[in-house]
Amino acid sequence: MNETGINQGTSGNISVRNDRGFLITPTSLPYDIMQEEDLVQMFFDGTHEGKRRPSSEWRFHRDILTARADIDCVLHCHSVYATTLACHHRTIPSFHYMIAVAGGTTIRCAPYATFGTQELSDAALVALDGRLACLLGQHGQISLGKSLASALALAVEVETLSRLYVQALTLGEPPVLSDEEMARVALQMKTMSYGKAE
Ligand code: 13P
Repeated sequence: MNETGINQGTSGNISVRNDRGFLITPTSLPYDIMQEEDLVQMFFDGTHEGKRRPSSEWRFHRDILTARADIDCVLHCHSVYATTLACHHRTIPSFHYMIAVAGGTTIRCAPYATFGTQELSDAALVALDGRLACLLGQHGQISLGKSLASALALAVEVETLSRLYVQALTLGEPPVLSDEEMARVALQMKTMSYGKAE
């Protein structure tokens, strides 16, 4: 996340499902000094083992991994342009066809709730309904994937789309593609395995 420029310091967190529950990044530890043994094994009942405390956001990681059998990885970061839009509670419309990579015609913004709370987790789940990404009001973004690589790629794409949208807004609210066109785009992406080289 740090190398792609979507995160810095101790912001953000990542989890990945394993056969015991899920592994999650520890709270408050800078990524550039984080080692494999710092990762925390969590269980779906909210307990954990390991030498570190789990991310303060373990609730939304647990709840998303529980609700979404279609994905195995949850990535949260405070990327600058996505967070800029989230500060204005903007849902990103289908101003660009690549919005479809997030699974629908919009990237929704969840209402603000304090970090680390069940309220934030509940709001994130609603915003992610039928989607692979969402913004979190006055906070950041969440991107989901089958793998760590696909969740990271989507988070970078969400940040790029957010940057494009912020730039497009400087010329006024841009036109949006129709739901029918976005359905065609989604079908085309599926048919062509768009963005997947293998
Ligand atoms: P953690 O260090 O606890 O993962 O918190 C970072 C963060 O981004 C909270 O939303």
